[in-house]
Amino acid sequence: MGEKRIRPVIKVIEPLRMSDGVGVKVRRSIGTPSLSYLDPFLQFDHFGSRNPEEYQRGFPMHPHRGLETITYVLAGKVKYKDNLGKKEEIITGDVQWITAGRGVIHEEMPQGIGNHMEAFHLWVNLPASLKMCPPRFQEIKDAKIPWMNPMKGVTVRLIAGQIGDVVGPGTGMAGNLLLMDITVDCDHVFHYEIQHDLTAFAYIFKGSGEYCGTNIEPLRMVVFGEGDYVSIKGGLQRTRSLLVAGKPLGEPVARFGPLVMNTNEEIEQTLREIRNQTFPNSK
Ligand code: FE2
Repeated sequence: MGEKRIRPVIKVIEPLRMSDGVGVKVRRSIGTPSLSYLDPFLQFDHFGSRNPEEYQRGFPMHPHRGLETITYVLAGKVKYKDNLGKKEEIITGDVQWITAGRGVIHEEMPQGIGNHMEAFHLWVNLPASLKMCPPRFQEIKDAKIPWMNPMKGVTVRLIAGQIGDVVGPGTGMAGNLLLMDITVDCDHVFHYEIQHDLTAFAYIFKGSGEYCGTNIEPLRMVVFGEGDYVSIKGGLQRTRSLLVAGKPLGEPVARFGPLVMNTNEEIEQTLREIRNQTFPNSK
């Protein structure tokens, strides 16, 4: 066994400010012209505002097929309902993890608390073998997500993945996913080993810090290159970020908005089903 190598920062991404849904202002760092796909991650949005005009018209009914969607609410809530009769509120600290598989049609409506709303929304691709699986829902309530102090000056909310013997509540996903909300105090350091064959990135949303030796401002995404571990060091203030990793699929991607398949024929077929109103219950 050789010495463990740090995963260098190979890309720093300034999110694109854009609107999605009905006038929802998002900061998108994956799923843009400059980074259309970071296998297996299709889209990553940070949205948040104290102005309800920038989020409250939300994401009305739309279909998904062939991917997983993960919503992590930092402030406010997202009111959710779908074609399967599911209705829920994802509130501050909660995570909603949907494996859309062969299909879900749903609505996601953000609401502020005292006008403040902030959340992350991540789309993860499914392998061909699972694109048409039955939909699966994981409602991960705030209280079920462990708070950990793996090192002095380091606080982690472990949503999916493992630290020591502790396994995060988000399990059974296709991609061997890792998802952590990490805060590192000034001059403290967090080291974490990430299997070398996983794609890994961090999104810094509060306080600058040193990510694998590179100083990064807030509201930036960094993509990590090859190696064995990442390190996060607090800057002048504590730095807070999401650390995400997943196994690349290495499969062809055909996408049409929230429908993500392997071939254009499969997309055409899905659009036919939507037109014929046989989506998502047909094969
Ligand atoms: Fe959606």
